[in-house]
Amino acid sequence: MTLLEIKGLTIDIARDSGPARVVDGIDLSVTEGESLGIVGESGCGKSLTMMSLVGLLPNRIRATGGKALFGGRDLLKLSAKELRKVRGSEIGFIFQDPMTSLNPVIRVGDQIAEALVYQKGMTKAAAKAQAVELLALVGIPAPEERANAWPHELSGGMRQRVMIAMGLAGNPKMLIADEPTTALDVTIQAQIVDLVRELKDRLKMSVVWITHDLALIAGLADRIAVLYAGTVVEDAPVEAIFDRPTHPYTRALLGSLPTLAGAAMERLPSIPGTPPEPGRRPPGCPFAPRCGFVQPSCSQSVPKLQAMPGDRRHKVACPVVLEGVA
Ligand SMILES: Nc1ncnc2c1ncn2[C@@H]1O[C@H](COP(=O)(O)OP(=O)(O)OP(=O)(O)O)[C@@H](O)[C@H]1O
Ligand SMILES: [Mg+2]
Repeated sequence: MTLLEIKGLTIDIARDSGPARVVDGIDLSVTEGESLGIVGESGCGKSLTMMSLVGLLPNRIRATGGKALFGGRDLLKLSAKELRKVRGSEIGFIFQDPMTSLNPVIRVGDQIAEALVYQKGMTKAAAKAQAVELLALVGIPAPEERANAWPHELSGGMRQRVMIAMGLAGNPKMLIADEPTTALDVTIQAQIVDLVRELKDRLKMSVVWITHDLALIAGLADRIAVLYAGTVVEDAPVEAIFDRPTHPYTRALLGSLPTLAGAAMERLPSIPGTPPEPGRRPPGCPFAPRCGFVQPSCSQSVPKLQAMPGDRRHKVACPVVLEGVA
C-alpha cells in the first residue's frame, strides 16, 4: 500500500527579482514499511522537499504546485494546525545536528516526555515512564539514569539516539531522517543505520533517509531516489542502483564513491562543473551542461521519469540512455 505519494511537486524561493524554482516537478512515493534513500549533491532540494510535507519550509520558500498525498490527504493543503498534528504523530523527523535540535537546558528524558504530552496528551508521569522506555528502545544504556542527563553530557552518538527516540515518540507511520549521521564518526554512523533498520522492522514504519552517502544507506534502503537540481533523475530498487546505475548522473555519483565504504561523499570531484543555482536552470535536462553523453535534444525539454524496458520498478529520466545511445 502506498503511504506517501508526491506528484509534480514544485517549490519556489521568493526573491526580489521574482520566484526562483528550486524543486521542479518531483515525483516520489513510499509504500508502507518501505525504506527509501534520497541521495544527491548539496543544494539539490532534498531537505526542502521533505520539509514541504510537514509545513517546515523556511520563510519565503513555498510549495507552489503538485500534491503530496499521505493517508489519502494532500499534505500541501493542510492548515498549520493540522500539520502540527501530522508532525510527530504521523510523520517523525530526525535532523542532522542534534545539538541544534535538542534544547540544551532541558534534561533529555523531559524533552521526550514533553513531546509525548503534546502529541499524545499523556499525563506527565506516564510520559516520563514512556520516555525511559523510548530511551531503552533506541539502545541507550541505563535509560532511567540517562533520562536525567543534560544533552551536553551525552556523546554525539547518544544524542543522535535521543533524537531518534523523539522522532519515534508519537509512534509515526513514517520516519524522515535528514542526514542524521553526518556529524558522527563512521563506526557510529553504521550503528545508527543498524538501529534505524531494526526499529523500522520492529515498529513497521516507513523510513525516508536523506544522505550524500550512497555507501552508508546501501544497507538500509529498499529503494533509492537520486535527485539532481530539484528533480528525480533515477528511482530504483537499491540493487539496481548499484548493479545497473543508468542515468549519467547516477553513474557519475557511483564513479565517485570513495573506495573506503562509508566515507562521506561531501565532494564529487569526478563530476566537473556545479549544479545550477535556483532560478538559473538551463532549458531541458538540468544535468545536460555536465553530462558526458549530452545530445542536442537534451536542451529541448525536461526529461520525464520513465520505466526501463523490462523493469517497471527502475525509472530513469534520460531519453538518451533509454534509447540506447549512451
Ligand atoms: N532558507 C533558505 N533561503 C534561501 N535559499 C534556500 C534556503 N534553504 C535552501 N535554499 C536553497 O534551496 C536549495 C535546496 O536546498 P536544500 O536545503 O533542499 O538542499 P539539500 O539537497 O538538502 O542540500 P544539503 O545536502 O546541503 O543539505 C539550495 O540551493 C539552497 O541554496
Ligand atoms: Mg539538506
